[in-house]
Amino acid sequence: MRHTRIIVTHYGGPDALRVVEEECPEPKDGEVRVRVLAAGVSLPDIMAREGVHPETPRLPFTPGWDLVGVVERLGAGTSGIEPGEIVAAMPIHGAYAEFVCLPHRELIPVPSGLDAAEAVSLVLNYITAYQMLHRSAKVKPGQRVLIHGAAGGVGTALLQLGRLAELEMYGTCSSRGAPAVSELGGVPIDYRNQDFVKEIHRLTGEGVDVVFDHIGGTHLWHSRNALRPGGRVVGYGLISSIRGEGLASGRPGRRQRFRGTARFGLYIAGGWLLPGRKRVVPYSIQTFKRLKPALFRQDLIALLDLLQQKKIKPIIAQRFPLPEARHAQELLGKGGVTGKIVLVSNGSSLESGAA
Ligand SMILES: NC(=O)c1ccc[n+]([C@@H]2O[C@H](COP(=O)([O-])OP(=O)(O)OC[C@H]3O[C@@H](n4cnc5c(N)ncnc54)[C@H](OP(=O)(O)O)[C@@H]3O)[C@@H](O)[C@H]2O)c1
Repeated sequence: MRHTRIIVTHYGGPDALRVVEEECPEPKDGEVRVRVLAAGVSLPDIMAREGVHPETPRLPFTPGWDLVGVVERLGAGTSGIEPGEIVAAMPIHGAYAEFVCLPHRELIPVPSGLDAAEAVSLVLNYITAYQMLHRSAKVKPGQRVLIHGAAGGVGTALLQLGRLAELEMYGTCSSRGAPAVSELGGVPIDYRNQDFVKEIHRLTGEGVDVVFDHIGGTHLWHSRNALRPGGRVVGYGLISSIRGEGLASGRPGRRQRFRGTARFGLYIAGGWLLPGRKRVVPYSIQTFKRLKPALFRQDLIALLDLLQQKKIKPIIAQRFPLPEARHAQELLGKGGVTGKIVLVSNGSSLESGAA
């Protein structure tokens, strides 16, 4: 049987993505073959394509951090899982494919009746948001938070989960994203036309308890200035590596996985050394999952439960068929997207409900 997958042929712009047709992979011992119903498209995928994400694989590779799919074939030595079951996984790369083989221990059951695109949004974006809120920042009701990129994939997840946690929320976004941020309970701040530090102090007086910063670089320091004494910045991304300060999308690049991380370290150290009790702490979903796989599983199950109870509702910006992965990444790379872009197989949203 043949299948389609996407590969990155060189580090660089969207032209690095190729569609290939090849034999379906066979599951090895302990592995399960999954037919992918939905794969998330995220900035970490684009950063890996550009060669600047810490998890960038060697070439050629198939991108795709997160997926929801149907168990299709079991390898030897697998247990507790049956063909036809709907599962979620975060392989970090490999999800842009019709079929993928994964260790059976990596698979987390998805309740029936959920939309595959909505369910896949939980795997990377909502777990990141949930763990940053409840495990890194340990937020309490009534606290004030500033969410950068509040209209984006992780940003909208932070707003929905922050509302459930009864937080007072402010969110930077471009003007197009402002209505979505307001609707999700945040006060929008137009980062292109306003100084967010001044705006936060104007709106709150002493500043916020927590800032979630995915920009990195010198931006972390501005975020620190928006804190009240004793507050913390949770730094979880380095957009500045691909936009503005960094590699221009479209140019051939190279694998430089630790670009920007040294400066990150300096800000963390500065947070401890300078007065004001304002800390900069890093968050990395992949590190957290490697160190505490049981908590990753527990948090995803909790989020799937919230989705089933309709307490959260991921915003799906657009669904693309798998062969259009390049268009999907181009759209995300241009910016101005509200919510999550998802690659889907034919009729996936219905299939996941038919489990
Ligand atoms: N550490 C982790 O474990 C982890 C896990 C998941 C994701 N991430 C990181 O999270 C970030 C977001 O990923 P995503 O998939 O949610 O991307 P996304 O959907 O593209 O969202 C990014 C958002 O950032 C906004 N933005 C860009 N420059 C900004 C600035 N200077 N100030 C404020 N907002 C700005 C964009 O707004 P406009 O498009 O309107 O400009 C966009 O809404 C990435 O850096 C990714 O690497 C980290």
